[in-house]
Amino acid sequence: MKRRVLNIACIGAGYVGGPTMAVIADRCPDISVTVVDLNEARIAAWNSDALPIYEPGLAEIVKRTRGRNLRFITQAEGAAAIAQADAVFISVNTPTKTQGEGAGKASDLSYVESCARYIADHATGHTLVIEKSTMPVRAADTIKRILANGKGGATFHVLSNPEFLAEGTAIRDLEKPDRVLIGGEDPDSIEALAEVYRHWVPEKAILRTGLWSAELSKLAANAFLAQRVSSINAISALCEATEADVDEVASVLGSDSRIGPKFLKSSVGFGGSCFKKDLLSLIYLCEFYQLAGPAAYWQGVLDINEWQKHRIAELAAAHARRNGGIVAILGLAFKKDTNDFRESPAIDVCNQLLAAGLQLRLHDERVEAQAFSACLTRGTKSVRFCGSIDEAVEGADAILVLTEWDRYAKLDWSALFAIAAHGASVFDGRAVIDRVAARAAGFKVYSVGKG
Ligand code: NAD
Ligand code: UGA
Repeated sequence: MKRRVLNIACIGAGYVGGPTMAVIADRCPDISVTVVDLNEARIAAWNSDALPIYEPGLAEIVKRTRGRNLRFITQAEGAAAIAQADAVFISVNTPTKTQGEGAGKASDLSYVESCARYIADHATGHTLVIEKSTMPVRAADTIKRILANGKGGATFHVLSNPEFLAEGTAIRDLEKPDRVLIGGEDPDSIEALAEVYRHWVPEKAILRTGLWSAELSKLAANAFLAQRVSSINAISALCEATEADVDEVASVLGSDSRIGPKFLKSSVGFGGSCFKKDLLSLIYLCEFYQLAGPAAYWQGVLDINEWQKHRIAELAAAHARRNGGIVAILGLAFKKDTNDFRESPAIDVCNQLLAAGLQLRLHDERVEAQAFSACLTRGTKSVRFCGSIDEAVEGADAILVLTEWDRYAKLDWSALFAIAAHGASVFDGRAVIDRVAARAAGFKVYSVGKG
């Protein structure tokens, strides 16, 4: 039986739940969307002018939909929203487990399981339960089992609808997705969700698969993307040793239509909340099914990433140690156009520099200093958070660029040379700065992948 989705609830008001529901509300004025979260401060921020996450274009969409067909409420008020919903998205965090079986690798599904129990307790009638979070393959079995034990008498179909947005471009990715993926076992339920996306996504971009293929495709997609970054980073080190230029090599590779040009930008390493955890989840699954070869292959992608961060931090550390010991860090976010620094390469690099006894001056466009400092394992005694680039660079022996913020591509290197320490060097971990200008100003410049 085909049913129309007119009321949506989403559990989890994070980087995925918030923007995704805002775009659904924007594109589907006939659908009422309620986002529910445990975190009261986060919900208060979604209901204010200072949204809890920074994403270009998000504030405008929230402004025109909030109070119309989009609302953000705390879990304490959420039961009625679940009862009313035709479809409930689960969009909560699925971090790496820290204890129990699979600790350090497997995904922690406790938040998802608690959502399933909440839905089982409060849903009424027939309800679609949609996995928006990234799950290990066959996680839907767990959700189905919990829903089946609910006391409410509601009936359910579980769908997998993983999200492919990238931070910094979330709104563009949601408004014009390469594809929307819906995995399920019941064709009518799949079509009911497809109908929601058809409000703005062309039919040919809506892919339908079985549940397990959808769950696995999401993990595999992130693993493939991370693998490309590790591949180009492995080549970057060889470029530096041979005086080849990694951007030139990447452009040659990318002109082969079988390879394609995207995701070939060499860097200090990939970060973000998902690549590492999803690779670890994939590795755990391979090991669980006794596939040692594939597990070792994906582990290699992670190992290169760690190696890249470590070697670039060591280059800057060695220079700063020989001089006055002060390092300016430009960029803490894991990529530009986001305030997110989860698993940012800046965390490991800063911790390595602090362990080497260096003094750090940190600058970022969007990352909140207080929050970042919690990731510094040696405390903040040797760290200063700077409100301006000049303040960070003044007196610095090494300037280390770790995020590709547009502003860093346009720095006035002559002015910076005048305030940096004598003999200061620049270490560009993103190959984004104007190297010619920096050298002309008097700096020695290292740039990742440049011979
Ligand atoms: P997040 O940590 O930003 O947000 C998750 C939210 O869920 C938090 O606000 C938390 O308070 C809330 N929550 C947890 N348990 C809850 C519960 N039982 N009831 C109500 N609220 C609860 O996470 P995120 O970055 O939005 O990621 C969510 C999922 O989406 C993850 O599985 C992630 O792998 C996946 N994903 C993330 C991205 C991304 O760009 N961040 C992209 C694609 C997929
Ligand atoms: C990534 C995927 O791109 C999304 O499709 C996916 O939905 C998401 O993970 C997720 O599941 O969380 P995200 O982590 O937000 O998105 O950002 P990316 O643009 O993929 O960048 C990830 C990291 O790789 C960043 O640190 C970035 O700087 C780095 N990167 C990316 C490179 O070093 N080089 C590149 O060429 C591309």
